[in-house]
Amino acid sequence: MPIITCIDDLKQLHRRRAPKMFFDYVESGSYTEQTFRDNSADFAEIRLRQKVAVDLLGRTTDSTMIGHRVAMPVALAPVGLAGMQSADGEIKAARAAEAFGVPFTLSTMSICSIEDIARHTTTPFWFQLYVMNDQDYVAATIERAKRAGCSALVLTLDLQILGQRHKDIKNDLSAPPRLTLKNLIDFATRPRWVAGMALTRRHSFGNIVGHAKGVDDLTSLTRWTNEQFDPQLDWAKIARIRDQWGGKLILKGILDVDDARRAADFGADAILVSNHGGRQLDGALSSIRMLPGIVKAVGDRTEVFLDSGIRSGQDVLKALALGAKGTFIGRSYIYGLGAMGQAGVTRALDIIHKELDITMALCGEKSVAGLGRHNLLLPADFGTRYR
Ligand code: GLV
Repeated sequence: MPIITCIDDLKQLHRRRAPKMFFDYVESGSYTEQTFRDNSADFAEIRLRQKVAVDLLGRTTDSTMIGHRVAMPVALAPVGLAGMQSADGEIKAARAAEAFGVPFTLSTMSICSIEDIARHTTTPFWFQLYVMNDQDYVAATIERAKRAGCSALVLTLDLQILGQRHKDIKNDLSAPPRLTLKNLIDFATRPRWVAGMALTRRHSFGNIVGHAKGVDDLTSLTRWTNEQFDPQLDWAKIARIRDQWGGKLILKGILDVDDARRAADFGADAILVSNHGGRQLDGALSSIRMLPGIVKAVGDRTEVFLDSGIRSGQDVLKALALGAKGTFIGRSYIYGLGAMGQAGVTRALDIIHKELDITMALCGEKSVAGLGRHNLLLPADFGTRYR
């Protein structure tokens, strides 16, 4: 067993232990993957200011996100097919998040269902919704999330049509995977994964199969999105969903200042600045580069969260210092899940927490609330390079 000291170590182990098609699904951006690469590269452009001779005792990463207490402002992002990285993956991730004291967000595209997560946790979790053509399905799903006690709805706005990820097509990605010779040869080198999958019956999209009318063989993500997702989602429909839900609402996939203003006028409890991890509009700027302008425009009216590109506690600190009230991690915890199941998600959270705490200390800060622009050194053109 290799010694794990950082998120990249978990990624290497994930690559070895999960089938290629599922590792590739996570490690993909759309088209040329320019935005996927920029998300991380732009974090690396931001540097930190060292501050010495400060009393470092009594530090805390405690904070709140939409009024919920969190052990650190890092939520687990909704990730499709997590239950294919490790058997019952969403249950494992939700349990790790609960024990750690950070929010878990279940994806509509999960393998385990809303009810599965509710049965295996005691803290309310968040539910991410994709808006489908079938309005009865959407209404029923919202009702299921309410019944399960979900404490926030994360409504994704940037994936009504799927950006192409070349690897998924080449790998013939599906859930469950097809038992082709190529796949069987690949599975033969992943005995832990095979053993885990043999012990669970959760092998397909748990929130869809048996819930959406006429959808029982739901293997192809692309076909499914093309056929089921509502291409006419607009602000009027978002308002209808808000009224059906009636609880805390986070609008996910905002990357533009005008859209952020619209979301704040709309009264969202939070917006999640995101380019979907570089998986949708290839050529869009990184989330971290777009963050300062959005915070300036709406930060006093709604909580601004950020995802896309966070691979360390240092990245979390940079996002917070640029004005985010909270962050979401996707790949960073999925690497842990694919590497070591629940223990791997816990390890990912521990790594990020420790990095955040120590980096905060070396910056001379004792709490996440104290972080700000004064902790950073930015390239002179960071927010203005692209106009
Ligand atoms: C789904 O959300 C995806 O990005 O694949």
